[in-house]
Amino acid sequence: MISLKRVEKIYRTSSVETLALRDINIEVPEGSFFSIMGPSGSGKSTLLNIMGLIDAPTEGEVRIGGNNVVGMSEKEMAHLRNRKIGFVFQSFHLIADLTVVDNVELPLIYRKMTARDRRAKALDALARVGLSARTKHFPTQLSGGQCQRVAVARAIVGDPEIILADEPTGNLDSAMSNEIMDILLALNKEEKVTIAVVTHNQGIADRTDKVIRLFDGSQVA
Ligand SMILES: Nc1ncnc2c1ncn2[C@@H]1O[C@H](COP(=O)(O)OP(=O)(O)OP(=O)(O)O)[C@@H](O)[C@H]1O
Ligand SMILES: [Mg+2]
Repeated sequence: MISLKRVEKIYRTSSVETLALRDINIEVPEGSFFSIMGPSGSGKSTLLNIMGLIDAPTEGEVRIGGNNVVGMSEKEMAHLRNRKIGFVFQSFHLIADLTVVDNVELPLIYRKMTARDRRAKALDALARVGLSARTKHFPTQLSGGQCQRVAVARAIVGDPEIILADEPTGNLDSAMSNEIMDILLALNKEEKVTIAVVTHNQGIADRTDKVIRLFDGSQVA
């Protein structure tokens, strides 16, 4: 489903060069649940962003569901990203002046779909994360765990084949973290969504099929 070969990422500014990833080779099979661990600055977010077509590698090959991504236009990449991939971030990235249901609908705006169908899909996604009672609230009126559940609903509303989550439980207490993990595990098991999650928490990593460990931009396991 996701394949990276000899991936390297160098960030260049006028004065410094940072080798963020070197010689990364990863195969994430369809339907698997991977976690990515490593110290701060080891390249975890960079790796996830490359898997999610948010960022391009400096060298190497990236394939998503058989499509070779390197050489694709920005437009083709955006299309693939919108259709196949859902993202969840540590800091939720919800839009404060939109209601919960409007936040969840956002990824569907780019699809040819009636407003009514969009709303129905958003409400369905919110039901799947147990938030049917909060659809008209604003993000500031929710707890952290509820905000993250809204973010998960937004990630799954377009029926992605892949979910990429960058420290989705980093701002949550352990009870809420487990709740988010339960939702992700259910999506993986019941709907065969391929998932990669960045985490600092060994307990979270232990619940995944495989752990990829990074140190200083290199794969150490
Ligand atoms: N846009 C950028 N420009 C320059 N350097 C960058 C950029 N983004 C990341 N880096 C560098 O690349 C390296 C890897 O960063 P990355 O954000 O992937 O680490 P991380 O493992 O996600 O860390 P954390 O656990 O703190 O989130 C770091 O040394 C960082 O300074
Ligand atoms: Mg990071």
